[in-house]
Amino acid sequence: MSDQVEPKKYWNQRAKEYGLFSSGYLDRDYYMWEEEIRKRCVYDVIDIRLGMRILDVGCGVGNWSLELASMGAEVVGVDFSEEMIKIAKRRIGKHPVNFVLASVEEVELEPESFDTILCITVLQHILSDERLSAAVKNIVRACRQGGIIVVLESCLEKDTSSHLSSYQILRSKRMYIDIFRKNGAQLENEKCVAFFGRISLKLYGRLYNLVYHSQYNDHLKSCSRTQPERARLRGIGPRIRKLILTLSKPFDYHLSSLSRHFDSCDLKLLSFRKT
Ligand SMILES: C[S@@+](CC[C@H](N)C(=O)[O-])C[C@H]1O[C@@H](n2cnc3c(N)ncnc32)[C@H](O)[C@@H]1O
Repeated sequence: MSDQVEPKKYWNQRAKEYGLFSSGYLDRDYYMWEEEIRKRCVYDVIDIRLGMRILDVGCGVGNWSLELASMGAEVVGVDFSEEMIKIAKRRIGKHPVNFVLASVEEVELEPESFDTILCITVLQHILSDERLSAAVKNIVRACRQGGIIVVLESCLEKDTSSHLSSYQILRSKRMYIDIFRKNGAQLENEKCVAFFGRISLKLYGRLYNLVYHSQYNDHLKSCSRTQPERARLRGIGPRIRKLILTLSKPFDYHLSSLSRHFDSCDLKLLSFRKT
């Protein structure tokens, strides 16, 4: 259990600090931009039908669960963070969701009881490979034959993995594909998520650092600048960033309807069918 204590503590703390915004990036503008692209990618691979059963694994504060319930699905959301589940339960409105406090590795789910299962940025937070195996086994077992499992996670084309922090691991795409296949679910679709937005922001960030950052630091150090000048220097980044995201959106929207993958895209959607 010890390898789970730290991540759980982290998510509880995050929920206490950021409430409704704790499930995604802390940079809210970017989060809301990317969430739109994520939705287009996910809804391109699943059909929501009235009364269908959906399991939302690592549901956080319930964003996906509540939206899916409002579309007519019967949703179960599972998360191991008490604080996340507390917030999610408070948000239940006229479209009820069954929020369950449990880890995905250990939650007891009826076999073959879900038509669709979503794992949106959650497997990347299960640090140990043993726990990941237990989680995937549980997920595939709970999915009905012919059902779809959507996995949207950061992962790499190359066959290495690295710990990004005490609560996140970047695994290879191959590892996710193999582990699902081993448990009886075959890869059916693959998409790059928010590829253009992410890659152009990365390139812009490099350029910005190169051109402005050292200059900006020098200005701050010398303390010779007035407040408005400092603000202007700081403001260059966010404004251009917003413009980049606006320009990237149509390209990422288009990509969300295609099955394409690029090596340099580190956020991927993999959809599996249980056979
Ligand atoms: C990045 S958030 C994503 C939340 C949600 N899927 C979304 O996209 O809005 C990751 C969530 O996974 C949960 N989580 C991490 N490891 C888990 C585990 N082993 N079992 C259940 N939930 C877990 C965390 O508590 C957190 O709420």
